[in-house]
Amino acid sequence: MESNFDFDTKENEFKELKDFIDSIKDKGGILIQILHKAQNIFGYLPLEVQKFISDETNIPMSEIYGVVTFYTQFSINPKGKHIIGVCLGTACYVKGSQDVLDKIVEETNTKVGQTTEDGIFTIEATRCLGCCGLAPVMTIDEDVYGKIDPNNIPKILEKYRVIGDSE
Ligand code: FES
Repeated sequence: MESNFDFDTKENEFKELKDFIDSIKDKGGILIQILHKAQNIFGYLPLEVQKFISDETNIPMSEIYGVVTFYTQFSINPKGKHIIGVCLGTACYVKGSQDVLDKIVEETNTKVGQTTEDGIFTIEATRCLGCCGLAPVMTIDEDVYGKIDPNNIPKILEKYRVIGDSE
């Protein structure tokens, strides 16, 4: 999915980020906090936002980019309207969660860690979600689905496609 980050319409968001940076600027080890805050504000961390943080903190772009791409909780691409997480923890894996994930990838025509062309779904593989009794488990936003049969994936996704279109 292409980035269509529009710098000019984000004045309030950049101001909020700048206020946050100013409030913690003098403390040490602030980069992770700033990146979390920025991702909360913008939803992801495009290069424009990384550059802004670099200018405001004097932390080199290379260091910021290195941190953003190292930690999986940060994303340089926009997330979809709905986040699908498939648990690849041991209990789920044994019960076939890889087949669930493969089916989702096939149905959405995208890859793990990426967002569909239409911007509706982002696919993520997760660690144990703490409900192994329901293995294999997947989440879509706040909804939890247990004991999933890959054959039911198209029906489940359809529900969210409709929600995605109506927003
Ligand atoms: S291994 Fe999937 S919920 Fe625990």
